[in-house]
Amino acid sequence: MRELSWPARVYLVAVIVVAAGVIAHSVASIGQAMAPGHPGGEGVGAEELGTLLVLALLFLVCESMPTLLNVEQFAVSVSFSAALAAVVLIGPEGTALVGFTAVFSVRPGLPLVKRLFNGAQFAICGHAAGWVYVRLGGRIGVPEVHAFDDLIGPYVAATAVFVPLNIVLTLTMIRLATGVRAMEVPMRGLAQFLLSYLGYGTFGLLVAGLWATVQSISAVLVLLPLFVARWALGQYHAQQRSYDATIAALCQAVETKDYYTRGHCTRVSAASSMIAQEIGMGQERLRAIRYAGMLHDVGKLGVPTKVLQKEGPLTEEEFAAIQLHPMRGLEIVRGIDFLDEAYAGIMHHHERHDGRGYPMGLAGDEIPEFARIIAVADAFDSMTSDRSYRGARPVEVAVEELRKNAGTQFDPVMVSAFVKALEHEPWQPPRRVEPPPPEADEAAVKDHDDPTMPIEVVSGP
Ligand SMILES: [Fe+2]
Repeated sequence: MRELSWPARVYLVAVIVVAAGVIAHSVASIGQAMAPGHPGGEGVGAEELGTLLVLALLFLVCESMPTLLNVEQFAVSVSFSAALAAVVLIGPEGTALVGFTAVFSVRPGLPLVKRLFNGAQFAICGHAAGWVYVRLGGRIGVPEVHAFDDLIGPYVAATAVFVPLNIVLTLTMIRLATGVRAMEVPMRGLAQFLLSYLGYGTFGLLVAGLWATVQSISAVLVLLPLFVARWALGQYHAQQRSYDATIAALCQAVETKDYYTRGHCTRVSAASSMIAQEIGMGQERLRAIRYAGMLHDVGKLGVPTKVLQKEGPLTEEEFAAIQLHPMRGLEIVRGIDFLDEAYAGIMHHHERHDGRGYPMGLAGDEIPEFARIIAVADAFDSMTSDRSYRGARPVEVAVEELRKNAGTQFDPVMVSAFVKALEHEPWQPPRRVEPPPPEADEAAVKDHDDPTMPIEVVSGP
């Protein structure tokens, strides 16, 4: 709590106060309904108390096992289905109490502040969704078969209230606590989040529908397959994160060899993704090109550092050693099977459109698509970054250089795709690189990716 900014604290307290009001009202209504001599009717009475406890337990179990999506700020859990089933089975007051149990979720390390916020916002969302459900004529209780159609409209409306309210309350907290704006959260992640929520909404209705026949077992019947699916998805994301960490570690190893190329791999990866998206590549290939961009120079690990860092002209042997780095790169990553098409990008990123590149001298469409993309991204980042022998070129100058060499060094299709991508996604050149400390001794190392300053090669030793 202490590290939260004051607007975040004010917001947190406001949400908790509103939730406390909702919970107090809910407890009072349930108490009244259960009082001896109460005529009964809709809402939680003595009979529904058992249902409330089962749903609260279910919600708690689900909330204790959220599945992280590939978006850092979000974790989605199946608990949403339990909350919406509660809207139908026990009404707004009961749903508010069910939602509040998120405070007690078994998630080691989750701070009390987050627990309180989760419980409070779920209580508010649950009550609001239940209120809308009742106002639109939804009947509270175990649905009867002949009346099932009548509750679909109110249920959809309740879902349409629960989802946006939950997202708005959560994103506002994230915004105030971390400074990340809603617009900065990747849209793909938001869409994934929203779709998950809507899908879980359907399962909530299914749980409520089956309650008439198998009572609380309906929750297990409906939600168990969901748990398994979410667990598998969680494993997949964990695997992807370990892949990313492996690639980042390799990348860092390459960049420690050259002071001036720090961050180069990441930027080549970003520029390659921009081109790939512009030409309409699918998600799987996008992931592979991102990896290929990160690892395109991994073969530098196999080139002697003294050659990579040599000042002035290179001998033919030394230049040959540098030209070997695409092949060395392939040798290094060959055993990593998730790289797939990335291999081709790594091996051929120095081929030229006119056939005068290396290592194979391929030309035009003979050059794999990944390599044609990386060649453009690689040269662009090299030109727009500081080097020991020259300052960074402005983006416009680098683009002009790419255009000038389109059709000779670069594939013109990839150059124009990149230029187009830059129009709607401006490039952020790296910050100015301060000269390395004297012991780094890399004063005039030529970058083999820089098309404006080719490496000089001299005959003989
Ligand atoms: Fe290279």
